Amino acid sequence: MTRRKGIILAGGTGSRLWPITLGVSKQLLPVYDKPMVYYPLSALMLAGIREIAIITTPEDQVQFQRILGDGSQWGLAFTWIVQPKPEGLAQAYLLANDFLAGAPSAMVLGDNIFFGHGLPELMAAADARPAGGTVFGYRVADPERYGVVAFDKSGQVRSIVEKPENPASNYAVTGLYFLDGTAPDRARDVQPSARGELEIVSVLESYLADGALTVERMGRGYAWLDTGTHGSLLDAGNFVRTLQDRQGTQVGCPEEIAYTAGWIDAARLRAHAATYGKSRYGRYLTDLLREV
Ligand code: DAU
Repeated sequence: MTRRKGIILAGGTGSRLWPITLGVSKQLLPVYDKPMVYYPLSALMLAGIREIAIITTPEDQVQFQRILGDGSQWGLAFTWIVQPKPEGLAQAYLLANDFLAGAPSAMVLGDNIFFGHGLPELMAAADARPAGGTVFGYRVADPERYGVVAFDKSGQVRSIVEKPENPASNYAVTGLYFLDGTAPDRARDVQPSARGELEIVSVLESYLADGALTVERMGRGYAWLDTGTHGSLLDAGNFVRTLQDRQGTQVGCPEEIAYTAGWIDAARLRAHAATYGKSRYGRYLTDLLREV
């Protein structure tokens, strides 16, 4: 089992999705049939991570807790942390400093959805690196909306720039960061950017300057889905629906991942299935009991 701890950053104002996020946190919006946060949570679970801090706004924490509880229902342990104001992604490492207590971490943004056959192996390789940081580069059509990686001729990472006007490549940095125990110290040295935020790319630059950053390319066999606009949120839901309907599987099902990993037993899975009753989700969990 990994000693790496997880962080789900699920604060922010969700202003790009107004008015739907006026009354509910962005990361609790439905992506087809589940709350958005189920998907990044599932990614951390697939990395074998069971101790997870969930960072929310002060107002939204209660709603998150109502959905996610303390994690024990899935064999996990959640620590709840509040971010008073959205002052940047790097702030998560300052807020989670006591929780991490020097441990390496995997932070995922609560609005990022990953899907792909090799995902557990890709994350296991990142987890196995004893020191430094690993992030994932994903080819996108609109890199200017993201942190962008510039490579030199030999394929080495030269720089990472947040939302550049003239992107040096089509490779965006996804919202999944495997960093070693030095991340909070590095975040402490970050100064607010022109837009007043503690930028995650500044933390990554610090690793890069020390020759301690690995950028793994996430190839075209993976889906990294965006939920940043109304259209892409709908597209993400349709993607999940298409896969699930075709295969009769579930994307981002914490009960399934926990059961397959042996973190919950059949009795617990049966209890979950009973909770969901005759819904499709409930039937799926019941079927899992027969399959394995
Ligand atoms: O999705 C990947 C991208 O995420 C990266 O490529 C960028 O380098 C990174 O800066 C970030 O860009 P975004 O433009 O998506 O960041 P945004 O401000 O939208 O925040 C991402 C999520 O984190 C969003 O769900 C809100 C949450 N958040 C954001 C901030 C600034 C917080 O919980 N707290 C915050 O302080």
